[in-house]
Amino acid sequence: MAVDVLLGLQWGDEGKGKIVDYLAGNYDMVARFQGGPNAGHTLYVNGKKIVLHHIPSGIFHQKPINLIGNGVVIDAATLKAEIAKIDAIGAGVNIQQQLCIARKAHLILPTHRLLDAASEAAKGKSKIGSTLRGIGPTYTDKIARRGLRIGDIEMDDFDQRYEAIKAQHESLLQHYGYNYQSQLTEMEAAFKDGLATLRTLKLVDALYLVNDYLQAGKNILAEGAQGTMLDIDFGTYPFVTSSNTITAGVCNGLGIAPQQIGEVIGITKAYCTRVGGGPFPSELLGDKGEEIRQAGGEFGATTGRPRRCGWIDLPALKYAVLLNGVTQVVMTKVDILSLFTEIEACTAYEVNGAKTQQVPFDVARQNPQPIYEAFKGWHCDLSDFNHFKQLPETLQQYMAYVENYLGANISILSTGPERNQLVFKEAKVDAELV
Ligand code: GDP
Ligand code: IMO
Ligand code: MG
Repeated sequence: MAVDVLLGLQWGDEGKGKIVDYLAGNYDMVARFQGGPNAGHTLYVNGKKIVLHHIPSGIFHQKPINLIGNGVVIDAATLKAEIAKIDAIGAGVNIQQQLCIARKAHLILPTHRLLDAASEAAKGKSKIGSTLRGIGPTYTDKIARRGLRIGDIEMDDFDQRYEAIKAQHESLLQHYGYNYQSQLTEMEAAFKDGLATLRTLKLVDALYLVNDYLQAGKNILAEGAQGTMLDIDFGTYPFVTSSNTITAGVCNGLGIAPQQIGEVIGITKAYCTRVGGGPFPSELLGDKGEEIRQAGGEFGATTGRPRRCGWIDLPALKYAVLLNGVTQVVMTKVDILSLFTEIEACTAYEVNGAKTQQVPFDVARQNPQPIYEAFKGWHCDLSDFNHFKQLPETLQQYMAYVENYLGANISILSTGPERNQLVFKEAKVDAELV
């Protein structure tokens, strides 16, 4: 048995949550391996919308156990609120039984969030547009070898260690000239409440759990957050997040060996979005972008910010397929492109006067210009289709073009936000729900 991986191929928000929720019943474990509450994964459960930030999107299924892996960074207050939202939906989830948290996952402290805000404010116009959830400063402390981990809350010296790192952070905040005192008092109260909730949850030495599962022949789905173009090493640096969002991140984010990786399911929208700053070669700045934003409800699930919208960027997608070893592609939000009688795709860039299909070294500075090809749109309601062969010819032609360009198979199309609004290439698999 293997660890299958599901991750985003663009700049996040590809619809990962919906697809994990659909597939989760086929797995014994669903595990987040990186990121933190910068993620917002939207699911519809019994017709009700819920946005998950840390908790894997398998939580509404009876079978899989859900693991927050060591590569994740956790905000205890947000986690507490997330659990309350899950309880409120009334789907019978038993968090104490269905959720495990790796002791080696790092803790986001209130001062990490303040440092995120101070650092963004200091950058002015060149700010990353971070989600202000403290992600960058928490991963910075992890790499600087001074972070606090979930397992530390079980140790006697936790309070002293917390105070010591808080003092370091406060001197940094003073260096930034950031006025933080009143916010910190309030945030610390929520943090302490969150820690009390964390202490009631199942904290585990996750690498043993994961490898015991694999040795017992059980299967695992690793759920990515963010997207490939936000990866710390391979994304549009410095406009990226602070973790490895790609398949390689699964090994160090869960504690498994590379040969355990099985299928890699890459998710892309039929078009493209980005939230926050940074380059976006195929961005549509005029009316078309606005039409997509409104039709697609393209507003951040975590921050509510309007998402920037554009045509699909095939050179970037091909780069993502290569980096992740994608074995199948799921294309979401195909229904939104039904708006148009004609659609376009960026099929190459012009960089320094030369045409290329490669993503340049520094997308922000080298400013690749998109070269587009036009396609006839399908311009119809897709809600009655459940097999590829029934789809309009124009949509089949668009998909064949994309598959050929990427050298990868599209296995599922998503045609709406609900769990079952999916169209399959092969016979479909049904998942057991709570
Ligand atoms: P994630 O971060 O990758 O899980 O994606 P988000 O939840 O941030 O954003 C995806 C948005 O699109 C959510 O509001 C989903 O409910 C919605 N969505 C997912 N798939 C589809 C689809 O095929 N069609 C439509 N119209 N909405 C979708
Ligand atoms: P999901 O999992 C979209 C973006 C932020 C910002 C950059 C860095 O829902 O797809 P950070 O807070 O991580 O330091 O911000 O990354 N970003 C996301 N964009 N979807 C996400 O997650 C994101 N998580 C972070 O907007 O540009
Ligand atoms: Mg999201």
